[in-house]
Formats: sequence, C-alpha cells, structure tokens
Amino acid sequence: MTAEKKPGAVTRRDFIKGLAVGVVATAAVSAGVAAVSWPAAPPAPGVVTKTETVTKTTTAAAATTTVTAPAATTTVTTTAPAVTTTVTTTATAPAPPPAKVYEKDIVLTINGDSYTLHVKNNWTLMEVIKEKLGFWGVKNGCARGECGACTVLIEGKPVNSCMILAVEAEGKKIETLEGIFTDVKLHPIQEAFIKYDALQCGFCTPGMIMSTKALLDKNPSPTREQVKEALAGNLCRCGAYPKIIEAVLSLKK
Ligand code: FES
Ligand code: FES
Repeated sequence: MTAEKKPGAVTRRDFIKGLAVGVVATAAVSAGVAAVSWPAAPPAPGVVTKTETVTKTTTAAAATTTVTAPAATTTVTTTAPAVTTTVTTTATAPAPPPAKVYEKDIVLTINGDSYTLHVKNNWTLMEVIKEKLGFWGVKNGCARGECGACTVLIEGKPVNSCMILAVEAEGKKIETLEGIFTDVKLHPIQEAFIKYDALQCGFCTPGMIMSTKALLDKNPSPTREQVKEALAGNLCRCGAYPKIIEAVLSLKK
C-alpha cells in the first residue's frame, strides 16, 4: 500500500535528502566553497526539485594592528680581556716652609787674616771665600761635594767648601792654597807636583795640594795606600793620578 502524498508534504525520503543537502551545504560553507550546486537528478514525479545555491563571501576586515613596542632595553655583556693595572700612589708631603733667609755679620779667619763680612745665612763658604773675597785657588768643580776641587782646610782637616755654609765656618781656622806659598817661594808640595809633572789642566791641583797638606801634616810618612785614601775625594778629569801619587810619596820623611 502506497501512502498518498499530499502536495508540499515532506516524505521521509525527502527529509533524508534535504538533510543530506543541508549537510553538504554546511560542509561546503565550512570549506569555504563559494557555490554548491546540487547535481541534476531526475525529478521524482510530483517532487519539487530545489536547487539551492549558497554563496558566502567573507571579507576579512583589514586588520590594523598597532604594536607599541616597549622601550627596548639592550644588555650587552662584554668580556674584556684581563687587564693588569698597576697603581702607584705617591704620597705628596706638604712642602716644607721655605727656609728663612737672613743676613748677618760674620768674621772669617782665612790664612791667618780676619775678614768681617755681611753674608746671607744660605751662602756657602766656597761662594764667600771665592766669589766675595777672591781666593781663586778655591775651584768650583761641581758645587755638590763630589769633586774636591773646592777643598780648603778647616782646623787642619780637608773640607769641601761648597758643602758648608759660611756662617758655620765663623771662628774657625781656614786655609786655602793662597796661604801656603809666597810670591818668592812655593810650598814643597807645589814643587813636587811640578817636578813629577803631576798635572795637566791644573783644575784639580789646588784641591789635591790641600788634601796632600792635610795628610802630610798629620802623617809625614804615608804609605801608597794611605796617599790613595787621602786623595780619594779629589777627582782628576785628566787622569794624572799616577804622577800625583808619586809626587806625594816623594815628600815622605
Ligand atoms: S766644587 Fe766642591 S766638591 Fe766639587
Ligand atoms: S790635572 Fe786636570 S783635572 Fe786634574
């Protein structure tokens, strides 16, 4: 028995078909298919064939994305080569106050004569007796106690006159080369230096003679070693040492 189908009624078959169409259409839409066409099928008698075209156009809105980057913080790690640093710390002591300079009157006794002088307290004995009083037998070789060219005798002892202040020599017996000879007679040490040709330029000779006098006054018969030792503070740039030593030894008593 066949059920009579009313116009517009949906049979189970139709429902199944329609469901399939919906599924396909849904699938097509889901797949983004622009158009789905149902394949032509021979219409069943009395059945309305429905062709459904589903078009779906999806227009994506232009996306504008504004990205505000956070303030960039860049950390750079650098491995520097090992550095050896030497730190030298020099402590600077406060400068001492300048030495007070004053002037005074002194009396120097030189070669038996007294000289009253107005001197500054920082003048050396060499400056005073050579530059102020004119005893040119006192030579200025270095002005710092190294050469012995400025040798004078103070109380019979050889002293570098560039290393003592004039005010320190006040009241002491001072001897210079000028005090050991006269215009008519040289001192025996001078005679020996001439005889043995114990000089070349002669710049060291006054100091050598004064040191020799100090030695012989104290020790009239010195040995060669004692002569060398006594003259060790007197430098001879001409290298006349061998003849100087022979000259001194010739004066042995
Ligand atoms: S000038 Fe005095 S030691 Fe040289
Ligand atoms: S003779 Fe010239 S420095 Fe001694």
